[in-house]
Amino acid sequence: MAILKVARMGHPVLRAKARALDRAEIGSPRVQQLIDDMIETMFEYRGVGLAAPQVHEGLRLFVASLDEEGASGADGEPVAVLNPEIVAAGSEAIEDWEGCLSIPDIRGRVARPRTVRVRALGRKGERIELDAKDFPARVIQHEYDHLDGVLFLDRMKSFQSLTFLDEHARYWTKD
Ligand code: NI
Repeated sequence: MAILKVARMGHPVLRAKARALDRAEIGSPRVQQLIDDMIETMFEYRGVGLAAPQVHEGLRLFVASLDEEGASGADGEPVAVLNPEIVAAGSEAIEDWEGCLSIPDIRGRVARPRTVRVRALGRKGERIELDAKDFPARVIQHEYDHLDGVLFLDRMKSFQSLTFLDEHARYWTKD
């Protein structure tokens, strides 16, 4: 296990479209090790999700902690989501705070669909389906965006809510 270096905004890998994993490579030691390292890295930096491009790997893969209520298919352990497809998103959008390990110490409000359904492969190549709402749905959409080179700033309708972490804690955590 290893803690990986996280790419910060400005690194081109964060703006590239990641490629799908071949079925044959999913079981490889390299990919399995990458998944373990991504989970360790996510925990180390207290993230709730981490996508492969954030650790300089242009693969359609992310890990996420979806253990809050509202994500069926999650069992408390971090999930590895490979080659995800968003197959449905709710029409209701809600706005909430987001941050990103690649954009350190910044928070901003982003409107996203409240519910999302994702089909993907798990870390053993098994088919998985996640039905998520509220916070886990937000995490999934944020991480999915990373696979297409999209950052949460791109999703903000206005930058008025952009705030540094200290100021966020001081002025904006009571809502
Ligand atoms: Ni992010």
